[in-house]
Amino acid sequence: MGVFGFGRAKAAVPAAEWFTKTYGSRLGKRAVTFREAIARVASGDSTRRTIVETGCVRERNDYSAGYSTVIFADFIRRYGGHVSTVDLSARNMALCRRVTKRWADLISYEVGDSIAYLAAWPGPAIDLLYLDSWDYPVVADDGSQAASQAHCLGELEAALPWLHPRSVVLIDDGALPGGGKPLLAKRRLTELGWQCIMDAYQTLWTPAGANGLDLPGRMR
Ligand SMILES: C[S@@+](CC[C@H](N)C(=O)[O-])C[C@H]1O[C@@H](n2cnc3c(N)ncnc32)[C@H](O)[C@@H]1O
Repeated sequence: MGVFGFGRAKAAVPAAEWFTKTYGSRLGKRAVTFREAIARVASGDSTRRTIVETGCVRERNDYSAGYSTVIFADFIRRYGGHVSTVDLSARNMALCRRVTKRWADLISYEVGDSIAYLAAWPGPAIDLLYLDSWDYPVVADDGSQAASQAHCLGELEAALPWLHPRSVVLIDDGALPGGGKPLLAKRRLTELGWQCIMDAYQTLWTPAGANGLDLPGRMR
């Protein structure tokens, strides 16, 4: 992981408005939660705005999977910040690099396991954590759903020390048979007293009441 280049805010239009106009209609079931996550991140300090995602874009124009790296990168170019993305697949990361080339100065690309990456995260504090790595199989009776859920929980646990009272955690593939990718992570967030902001196809969480929360980790 190298030195982080943070983009400066340039846009005059509110982020939620920009997002809806640019990506809203293409994102279908994910639009409402991406929009809320981005709006919340945009309301914070733009000078060190930090987005971390697990599971990068792996196909050109793959809006049906979220097209997350592109959306986050476009957002930070306009509103300030930095995006870090990690993926186990060198092939997928190479594709991601190609489709996000125009924002490459504001993106850190890492090939490797997402839990190890988050456990070794060098900072700064994470404003938006997007968990979308290990694919969740819709139909499976071989333990592969549980493996995806356990991996997602592992990512959350590894990232907790880097979250702050205004962080948001967004997790993909929730509304699926068997509870989806975030099943165990949602249980853990509930245990920690976090607040669920939206629970749709994606699930969006923030520490309950930015006041008085006793987070286990480092604060900005
Ligand atoms: C659903 S795709 C990500 C889609 C992307 N977020 C988007 O919006 O287009 C899941 C990705 O997770 C990656 N992956 C699977 N296991 C992983 C792991 N243990 N660590 C990091 N990435 C992993 C896969 O290689 C794949 O590229």
